[in-house]
Amino acid sequence: MKNTYGNSVSITIFGESHGSAIGCVLDGLAPGIPVDENFIKEKLSLRRPSGGISTARREPDEFIIHSGVYEGKTTGTPICILIPNTDTKSRDYSSNLNKARPGHADYTAFMKYHGFEDTRGGGHFSGRITAALVAAGAICYSALLFKGIKIGTHIKFIAGVEDRDFQNLDADISSLQNKEFAVLSDTVAKEMIEKIMEAAREKDSVGGILETVVTGVPSGVGEPWFDTVEGRLSYALFSIPALKGVGFGEGFGLAKMKGSEANDEYYIDNGDIKTSTNNNGGILGGITNGMPITFKCVIKPTPSIGKVQKTVNYISNEETDIEVVGRHDPCIVQRARAVVDAVTAITLCDLLSERFSTDWLGEE
Ligand SMILES: Cc1cc2nc3c(=O)[nH]c(=O)nc-3n(C[C@H](O)[C@H](O)[C@H](O)COP(=O)(O)O)c2cc1C
Repeated sequence: MKNTYGNSVSITIFGESHGSAIGCVLDGLAPGIPVDENFIKEKLSLRRPSGGISTARREPDEFIIHSGVYEGKTTGTPICILIPNTDTKSRDYSSNLNKARPGHADYTAFMKYHGFEDTRGGGHFSGRITAALVAAGAICYSALLFKGIKIGTHIKFIAGVEDRDFQNLDADISSLQNKEFAVLSDTVAKEMIEKIMEAAREKDSVGGILETVVTGVPSGVGEPWFDTVEGRLSYALFSIPALKGVGFGEGFGLAKMKGSEANDEYYIDNGDIKTSTNNNGGILGGITNGMPITFKCVIKPTPSIGKVQKTVNYISNEETDIEVVGRHDPCIVQRARAVVDAVTAITLCDLLSERFSTDWLGEE
């Protein structure tokens, strides 16, 4: 029943959507990593809802670092981050009490916690909890940047509208860093937002695909079989609510290729071994080959929608209808992007600490 992930660097998350606070304990991170509160705030602002395409719930995400950071650097002891909840409206949910929202975790939470779960606003299953992942991820990302490792995620696809592929990795990654709606081609942003607004008007929702690239990870990280880099990353990524698929490199697209197309041919570039394509996403045999790590994540349409749907009351065991009131995003892809970046950063810190020792991440 644990809410903890990671071996060398681990994270425990806690809290409920309408409880007093959410937060996390990030443990095992090297001492000496710079912690810039403004950087954490910037990352949190990318996850925060904004504009007409997001929920009207507005949380300032003001956080308090209670331990593990002293004079702007990690101490190497557990870092406890608390983010108070301030904008909660539990009455929005009372009309649908004990009705299972289709696509949400109400029924499965009831089956697991036998009715003791906090149901307000999705409780522990709410997307709100991801703010803690983003705050911890920002600290981990500072450590990775220090080692020349960069992460960039863009919205590849929403409701039939597609963004261009990554081209110049350095330029593309830096262009994404502070973009609220993270697309590479700004012309598609408007089209995607129109599709999201259209779904909202229909009291419906849409999903999409996020594409991530990580540069600068040394070769030789990861283990064969059970602790593959793909395995560890996807294990962590599947913790993100609404994330329903992960594919590395060309992913499911590899099924349509011949070996001669799918294989990434090797060459030497100024003494470095590289591959001319990267269909395998920088990982072979579960171990990094020094090429960028690339993967795509599927984010499903937001389950809470205003359209009337059939469901059950899981206490009275009766069939009924549900119309979800309350504040919900017609699309969460653009917000999940900051969470994907964060979870990637946390997992890479874990994998790198295992490979090179805990202190490595804090060393010049
Ligand atoms: C940033 C973020 C925000 C979310 N906001 C909502 C929301 O407003 N309404 C909703 O129904 N689901 C929201 N979700 C998704 C649900 O929490 C998720 O679909 C639900 O817990 C069921 O889990 P599953 O889809 O992973 O199976 C959000 C997810 C994320 C990552």
